[in-house]
Amino acid sequence: MKTVVITGCGRGLGLEFVRQLLARGDRVYAGARRPESSGELMELAQAHPDLLTVLPLDVTNAAHRANLAATLNGKGVDLLINNAGVYGPVPDTFGSTDEDAWLETFRINTVAPRQVAETLLPNLRTGTRPCIALLSSKMGSIADNGSGGVYIYRSSKAALNAVGMSMARDLADQGILTLILHPGWVLTDMGGPNAEITVTESVTSMLRTLDKASDADNGRFIDIDGSTIPW
Ligand SMILES: NC(=O)c1ccc[n+]([C@@H]2O[C@H](COP(=O)([O-])OP(=O)(O)OC[C@H]3O[C@@H](n4cnc5c(N)ncnc54)[C@H](OP(=O)(O)O)[C@@H]3O)[C@@H](O)[C@H]2O)c1
Repeated sequence: MKTVVITGCGRGLGLEFVRQLLARGDRVYAGARRPESSGELMELAQAHPDLLTVLPLDVTNAAHRANLAATLNGKGVDLLINNAGVYGPVPDTFGSTDEDAWLETFRINTVAPRQVAETLLPNLRTGTRPCIALLSSKMGSIADNGSGGVYIYRSSKAALNAVGMSMARDLADQGILTLILHPGWVLTDMGGPNAEITVTESVTSMLRTLDKASDADNGRFIDIDGSTIPW
């Protein structure tokens, strides 16, 4: 049984991570900005009172992060899934920079994942084969940018990749792995109706990758089929 912390669990991929990990019998701490507004998450909490703890967690809120640490009360964490994210304004085309939206997107997608990991470092240190998963995106790959646009989201995820690589280097000697995951183009509110795969398929594949993670995967930018994505 793993102890897992997940951010952004009210809907989409975060909610599906909670579902699949509970089905495996793992102990899950699920953060959501407004847990009470996610009926599905609240139903899971009622169905699994011993395995699931739901807590309010806006990842940009320092008091919420401190409350997460207090709720864990020193318990070891085996897996932290930094899933919470936003796409930013649409459209996001050259000629009209929305500076405030850009900085807010960075706060959520780039800065907060590091802060959540910093908050949980003592818990990760005492976890079993501890691992941090960062939900990035192929749209953060500079090498893969063949269509331009989407400045804010792309740059926030490219910067997250840089954060992930530094964490991989910095935390390796404490036995903590950092994996940078692309979930595929997934049918969620963010992915939209034309996306290619379901949340079930995406999360099943990402958990397969995380289950077999080894030192060789530390700092790797990993596609849904397990292959390496160019930076
Ligand atoms: N779907 C795709 O095709 C795709 C592709 C590549 C990467 N990703 C990445 O995968 C992750 C999950 O995406 P998704 O498709 O599940 O997106 P989604 O359906 O839009 O859900 C995003 C989740 O993040 C939460 N969130 C946003 N800002 C937050 C904050 N400040 N604090 C805490 N939670 C916050 C949202 O909470 P609220 O309900 O409160 O807004 C929601 O639960 C994201 O990091 C995304 O960038 C998705």
